[in-house]
Amino acid sequence: MTPDLFADGPSPAERAQQLRALLHHHAHRYYVLDEPDIPDAEYDRLFRELQELEQQHPELLTRDSPTQRVGGAVLDSFSSVRHAVPMLSIRTETDTQASGAVAFDARIRRELGLAEAAPPVEYVAELKFDGLAISLRYEKGVLLRAATRGDGEVGEDVTHNIRTIGQIPLRLPDGVPPVLEVRGEVYMRRDDFDALNQRQRDRIAAGAKGEKTFVNPRNAAAGAVRQLDSGIAARRPLSFFAYGLGEVTSEADGGPRFETHLGVLMRLRDWGFPVAAQTRLCRGAAELVAFHREIGALRDTLAYDIDGVVYKVNDLALQRRLGFVTREPRWAVAHKYPAQEQLTTVQAIDVQVGRTGKLTPVAKLAPVFVGGVTVTNATLHNELEARRKDVRVGDTVIVRRAGDVIPEVVSVLPDKRVGDPPPFSMPERCPVCGSEAVREEGEADHRCTGGLFCSAQRKQAILHYAQRRAMDIEGLGDKLVDQLVDARVVNSLPDLYRLGLTSLASLDRMAEKSASNLLQALEKSKQTTLPRFLFGLGIRHVGEATARDLARHFGSLDRIMAATVDELLQVPDVGPVVARSIHTFFDQAHNREVVEQLRACGVQWPEGPAQAPAASPLSGRTFVLTGTLPTLSREQAKEMLEAAGAKVAGSVSRKTDYVVAGEASGSKLDKARELGVEVIDEAGMLSLLQDGGVT
Ligand code: IVH
Repeated sequence: MTPDLFADGPSPAERAQQLRALLHHHAHRYYVLDEPDIPDAEYDRLFRELQELEQQHPELLTRDSPTQRVGGAVLDSFSSVRHAVPMLSIRTETDTQASGAVAFDARIRRELGLAEAAPPVEYVAELKFDGLAISLRYEKGVLLRAATRGDGEVGEDVTHNIRTIGQIPLRLPDGVPPVLEVRGEVYMRRDDFDALNQRQRDRIAAGAKGEKTFVNPRNAAAGAVRQLDSGIAARRPLSFFAYGLGEVTSEADGGPRFETHLGVLMRLRDWGFPVAAQTRLCRGAAELVAFHREIGALRDTLAYDIDGVVYKVNDLALQRRLGFVTREPRWAVAHKYPAQEQLTTVQAIDVQVGRTGKLTPVAKLAPVFVGGVTVTNATLHNELEARRKDVRVGDTVIVRRAGDVIPEVVSVLPDKRVGDPPPFSMPERCPVCGSEAVREEGEADHRCTGGLFCSAQRKQAILHYAQRRAMDIEGLGDKLVDQLVDARVVNSLPDLYRLGLTSLASLDRMAEKSASNLLQALEKSKQTTLPRFLFGLGIRHVGEATARDLARHFGSLDRIMAATVDELLQVPDVGPVVARSIHTFFDQAHNREVVEQLRACGVQWPEGPAQAPAASPLSGRTFVLTGTLPTLSREQAKEMLEAAGAKVAGSVSRKTDYVVAGEASGSKLDKARELGVEVIDEAGMLSLLQDGGVT
């Protein structure tokens, strides 16, 4: 059990004792077991509370307080390494706003005794990588030892695992100092992490025992570095960035002379170490602020996680003058971004009905501020996902929101579960219309079979049609659509164009002005384009891009409606699933009727001639990728296949044409064999792509 976080009114001494116990507990889970059960922000909060308590009551400070020690414990089974130069910690600027950078610069100027008129201080601004710190010791240019930070003085010897990281040179060019310690961060890229977890899921699905998925790239990386068996580490793709030095042969003994931190980084890059391209020389606070803002904006587009940026005084002589406070240099600071993970509780699990009838379980959360917004809902995707994560009502969960991505439940804290709530299961009937809910074979999603009989599907269909990227009917939002459908004023898309002032005025809270605005917007929407109209119809699998491709290829709606599946497959990027979906849609009389009525209401667009079908060698073929390919990442392989007109699916079925299997392919490979689907390797795939030689 996790000790109670919120006991009532303890004395400062009791609270300090409590916090130490909690922090020891979580540090052990985090550093030793690599299985944290609270988000980092929560740990940081507890840590800061203890730090503050000890500052206010210095008599409460003990030698074993977690605040007196950086990092975690050393595992017994690894040999210990004493760092020749301690591995420092770094002070964290708690203000996540841009002003945090201003405060740091002001502190530096004060400590250096600089007058206001003195020129700006030069800093190196770097990314704060979210991995684990490693010290690499080279003697005579050969990698001798790699050690974790441990408690800053003594770390663990993880040389055998670190050697497996391709980005870390085993031998350095001639001319490097005889003793050279390089410090930096070992981390896992997000795509590598996703592929690893996919592999783990495949293994678990195939019945492998003792396998688990990882919570985030940092834990996956930390777990890999701490493997006793380097074979396991080698199968977990790790990366490395260098950001500093440890012991280096002194100038007196013929070692190099460094004057600036940037000079150090440039030299490290010359010697073959990866240094992040975003690293920048900044003069004064304003440039630090700009860096913080720019990196914050592109944070989610990076290939790896960062949790902030780091500023370091560039001039090494100034660094020496500034010195240290305990384990933290005064010349550096970590400036964080708002946490992307937080703890909250699940108040209910609702089932929402989408436009195409898809039933989505959604966790209703106690409101929590994460990734810069207040989150109250997180999708659980489908029944399988909800069960895989085993989210239950009342559970305490970690929620993550990164950038514009939809908030997600990362994992449940099983220790905090109260009682024995039942596991989630999908209702047998649609919660809105009561029609049967079914899950088709080979699909993860349940669907309401009510079609447009289901008012939820009708509402979503209308909202989809009205959205800005489709027909752009301003003022037709979800509240109004709810009213229109519930009052049975609008039952289908064409009904929208039959609305008049009287029918609108009969609705609650509808002012005459907004009613006439809406009628105007509806009128305006009648002049549209073919791609917008097609997209607005809400055909399954037809997004904006496909709608554009269809319009360009066929030129007119009548030609699209009359197209056979084979003709549809000629459109670039349209695979069998999409082609069949379009064909089925227009095959149904009620859908054709809706189109005709919309046209009769005056909806129109310019049409053009049909284009010659583009030659795309693999068009219409479906591929499934599994395992690790020798040279291509899964994403690269997918892009290449799609560019050639093929479709890449997530699971193997009878419709699959090829399975491309790499190392450690799991259940998908078995399934392919079972179904007799052709299995090829990366080379086979490349040759198909090269000559388009599909028979
Ligand atoms: S410098 C002078 N630079 O953050 C302080 N650390 O407590 C020595 N980290 O776990 C560290 N990115 O591994 C430095 N660009 C960067 C960093 C960085 C991530 C980590 C480091 C350590 C923590 C610092």
